[in-house]
Amino acid sequence: MEPSRPLTPDGQVDWDAFAAHDYWKANYAFMRADDRLFLEMVRDFFGAEASSTPAGSGVDVGSGANLYPAMSMLPLADEITLWEYGAQNCAWLREQLPHYSTYWDRYWQTLREHKAYEALGSRDVRRRLARAATVHQASLFDLPEQQFDVGTMFFVAESITSDEGEFRRAVASFMEALKPGAPFAAAFMRNSTGYVVKDHKFPAVKVDEDGIAECLRAFASDLRVHTVDTRGRSIDAQDRSEGAPEKQLRDGYEGMILALGHRQ
Ligand SMILES: C[S@@+](CC[C@H](N)C(=O)[O-])C[C@H]1O[C@@H](n2cnc3c(N)ncnc32)[C@H](O)[C@@H]1O
Repeated sequence: MEPSRPLTPDGQVDWDAFAAHDYWKANYAFMRADDRLFLEMVRDFFGAEASSTPAGSGVDVGSGANLYPAMSMLPLADEITLWEYGAQNCAWLREQLPHYSTYWDRYWQTLREHKAYEALGSRDVRRRLARAATVHQASLFDLPEQQFDVGTMFFVAESITSDEGEFRRAVASFMEALKPGAPFAAAFMRNSTGYVVKDHKFPAVKVDEDGIAECLRAFASDLRVHTVDTRGRSIDAQDRSEGAPEKQLRDGYEGMILALGHRQ
């Protein structure tokens, strides 16, 4: 069956033109302070679940060339589906998974500061991810309902379209793919105006904390929404009310937003 093609008012986006290696190099070859803080927050949230939850199946939606969301689910999932649409991204993931590059070791070191991750054993983690993860080339609009015990979706719903309705449908597809009670972590660029990967412009919807909370509240219990500025500093609601987060240090967005909670 032909996967559902995401539509945007700007016309169709060619996700096969998304250059995985360039994206990885620009964003993840070195660990940035904002990613580190996100990783710590996700680690502490998923890590706290691990003692009371048997490992099940996880999904990372729109993985692109980022392995850290999948890594963060390892204490909670012995099967992880990387549900990705773009051809180059799927090829990059399939190449990395059997033995991911040492650039990802820093991300794992951050995760293993928590005992739930340390318990998995450092030497084994490559093999563990290789065993657990499979790449599934498909659109998030074709995700099955209530299938997964834990889920992540990083910088996808707001970064695949410039259409607000499609952003909301993408969030709904992700949340509906989770079983009731499943913990999730979803990350968003704050007020992004789009981004360029290897001379190719990709769209975005401008979203902020209120819009994300409003969108997720219908699906989530105990929702927590955190903002991190581009220097990796956490910003709480009061700081935000006193002005916009730190003027962006990089073009096109104002920091990152992380939503954590459980599927209702
Ligand atoms: C901005 S990138 C985010 C990549 C990665 N999750 C990260 O944290 O950096 C957006 C990703 O969404 C993927 N994507 C676009 N449309 C999609 C769809 N309909 N279903 C699943 N993934 C999609 C793209 O191929 C790309 O990998």
